Formats: sequence, C-alpha cells, structure tokens
Amino acid sequence: MSLIDRFGEHLERGRESSGVGRESSERGRESSERGRESSGVGREPSSPTPARPPEDNSPVQTHPLPASLLMPVNLPSDAPTAPSPVAATPLVVVDSIAKTFDVSPPWLNRLLEGKPRLLLHAVDDVSFEIARGETLALVGESGCGKSTIARMLVGLYKPSRGQVRFDGVDLSDLSRPGGRQMRSRLQMIFQDPYASLNPRWKVADIIAEPIRVHRTMTGEDAIATRIEALLRQVGLSGADAAKYPHQFSGGQRQRLSIARALASRPDFLVCDEPTSALDVSVQAQVLNLMRDIQRADGLTYLFISHNLAVVNHVADRVGVMYLGRIVELAPKRRLFEMPQHPYTRMLLDAIPVIDGSGKTRTAVSGEVPNPLSPPSGCTFHPRCPLARDRCRSERPLLRSSADGSQVACHAIEEDWS
Ligand SMILES: Nc1ncnc2c1ncn2[C@@H]1O[C@H](COP(=O)(O)OP(=O)(O)OP(=O)(O)O)[C@@H](O)[C@H]1O
Ligand code: SF4
Ligand SMILES: [Mg+2]
Repeated sequence: MSLIDRFGEHLERGRESSGVGRESSERGRESSERGRESSGVGREPSSPTPARPPEDNSPVQTHPLPASLLMPVNLPSDAPTAPSPVAATPLVVVDSIAKTFDVSPPWLNRLLEGKPRLLLHAVDDVSFEIARGETLALVGESGCGKSTIARMLVGLYKPSRGQVRFDGVDLSDLSRPGGRQMRSRLQMIFQDPYASLNPRWKVADIIAEPIRVHRTMTGEDAIATRIEALLRQVGLSGADAAKYPHQFSGGQRQRLSIARALASRPDFLVCDEPTSALDVSVQAQVLNLMRDIQRADGLTYLFISHNLAVVNHVADRVGVMYLGRIVELAPKRRLFEMPQHPYTRMLLDAIPVIDGSGKTRTAVSGEVPNPLSPPSGCTFHPRCPLARDRCRSERPLLRSSADGSQVACHAIEEDWS
C-alpha cells in the first residue's frame, strides 16, 4: 500500500467511529432562529494551559510546513468528494485586507539606541471570497499570515487596511445595533484543544457560555437539553457535561471545542489548524465529524492547515500563502493535479510518494525570509528556481485564468517554460 493511501484509510476508519451526525437533524435551523445573540468567537486559548491527561499519548505534530508534509497524503483521485458549495453567492468577501503589527522596541530604547520603528506586514493585500457551504483552505509555511487572516475574519483583529464583509455586512460595523447577532454567526476553532478550554469549568458551563452570556436561550432546563444535544452531535455523551476538560483525550477535547463553537448556531466556522495537535487516526475522526456537520447544517468553513493531506480531504478550494500574500488560489483538484506557482509545486513535490512510480520526494528548500525585511519584487525569488531579473524588482500580481484559478507569478504570466 502506498503512503498516500494510508491517510485515506484512516479517514474512512475514523468515519465509522466518529459517532458523527447523531443529532444533526436537531440542528435543522429555521432562519427565524438566526437572531440570537451569542458570545461570537470561541474562546482563544486560555491560560494557564492545563496538564495533559495521562491517558492521552497523542504525538503533537510539529508546526512548520516542511515537517508536516511528511504526512501521508490521500491523492485527489481517491479523495472523498468534498461538499460542493450550495450557492454561488459569497457568504464571506475579503477585500484587499492587510495587517501590520508594530513590533518596535519601546520608545525610550528607540530614542537612546537610535533605532527606527519596526513594522511587520503579516498580511498584505489579500482578497478572496467564500461561497455558502464551501470550504476554503489556506496553506503555507509557519509565519505566512494564516492565523492573522483567521483572526481578521472573525473580528478578533481589525484589518490595517481593506475590508471583510460577512453576508454583505462590513465586520468593522459589528459595534452597531445588531452587530452581536451577526457575530454569533461567526465562530472559531483553535488549534490547541488543551489550551482553548477553561480547565476550571465543567463541560456544561464551557458549552453554555455563549448561550448564557448573550442569553440566546433562557431556562436552565432548555440549556441543559441543548448542551446534551450538542455533546451527542459531536459524538460524546450527555453525561460528559458534568466532567472537566482534563478528563478527556485530545480528540475528545477538540470535539468539545466544536460543540462550543456550534452552540450559537453559526453559519461560518474559521478552523485554525483544528487537528494538527492530534494523531492521524484521531484527526480523521474529527475531520469526518466536521464534514458531516457541514453537510447537515450547510456550514461554511475557512480551514487553515499546514498538512496538505488534511487540506486535500476537506477543501473545495485552496489558497497557498507565502509571506503574507496569496500566491495561488484554485479549486482543490486543479491545485493538486496542476500546480502553477513554483512555491505550490515545491510544496507538492515534498510529499513522499511510495507507490512504485519511482517519483522521488524533493524537500522544500530554503528558508522563509524575515518578514521584517522581505525580499524585493517577488518575495519568493531567493528560493525560486525560475527567478529572473524582473522577479527581483517587480512584485507579481494575482491574476485570474479562465478556469477560475488565480496565480501571482511572472513566469506563468509570460510563459517562461
Ligand atoms: N500579535 C502579533 N504581534 C506581532 N507580530 C505578530 C502578531 N501575530 C502574528 N505576528 C507575526 O505575523 C506573522 C504571521 O503570523 P501568523 O500567526 O499569522 O502566521 P501563521 O501562518 O499562522 O503561522 P503558523 O503556521 O506558525 O501558525 C508572523 O511573522 C508573526 O510573528
Ligand atoms: S515571480 Fe519569479 S520569483 Fe516569483 S515565483 Fe514567479 S518565477 Fe519565481
Ligand atoms: Mg497560525
């Protein structure tokens, strides 16, 4: 069996044991229910991080993309079909957003040492749309700006420039009347299921938090019933409501995070590496759970991952990021079968294939440049095998092609092959 098939097997096995969708019909929502308030975005990883339960031996995956590319990948031809967008109208429109962080030393130090102000351009001029029911995945090496985009999409960060519109409403307007209702429709699932749940709270209180704080539902009995239904929906039992987070394994904790994110009945989930802290078989269960919930409830996902196997499993379209920008955006199958950008090709070439085809893996070469002093022109040029003079002086623009994909590369634009 090839390495690339193995992850697919895990996914199929995980499907059988995911306990998914038992309560999905419960969540068939009427639009009239939509007007509830909620806490909006899920809790960011809280501190202190509780100790891991002794029974959980899940290896924690390393973070940077090159290491994660060693994960076996289920190629598109065998991939389970991802849910197709249910409507062409975009639910999320990201319009030329940028995020700059001021990472300057303190004012006094700057004055005494004569140091300049330092601005880090974490995200620079990023635009995309996500259709209702669609899963857009973002991939890229560590530090390329994926989480910063995620946080801007749920209103945790305000863009330094540009605009995010959710269902036609500018997210910067969420402070206006009705803004909290809108916020309840956006939720985020964080990477670390250990840090993102308050260790001192019982599960019932964790899941009920968005409901209670914003009074989306009243009556303790009704809330308890809802919590039980959410726990069953994510494959846990109603009795788990009385437990504390440390009594669960990593995969179960991420199910709790999903239950909490679903408590406010969102339309849009931003998932920032939701399975990267889990081992492969547990990843498969959680991914299948998320996919089944998406199908049942018509959710829209922005899914961030550095693991191309996971992306291949969950995404409809994939955006490849490099140093704060999207360099290629294409339907999943098209991206995996015919990658255009040299960086995308480099990432895909790094995936091990042991199917007897004789194809050898080429490791991702070079280092990600320092974002405080990015290279001129195309920021990928120091690592690009095709780089020419134009690349060093002129930044390529993201251009659309007839098949709906977009790529930012002079070599593609001018056909240097
Ligand atoms: N609050 C912040 N203050 C200063 N710099 C930040 C802040 N948040 C992120 N950055 C910087 O912005 C850049 C993008 O960070 P981000 O967390 O978005 O990357 P990422 O693609 O999610 O990386 P990873 O895969 O490691 O999670 C990095 O250089 C990071 O150091
Ligand atoms: S613009 Fe030039 S350096 Fe950048 S990816 Fe294309 S060929 Fe490589
Ligand atoms: Mg991140």
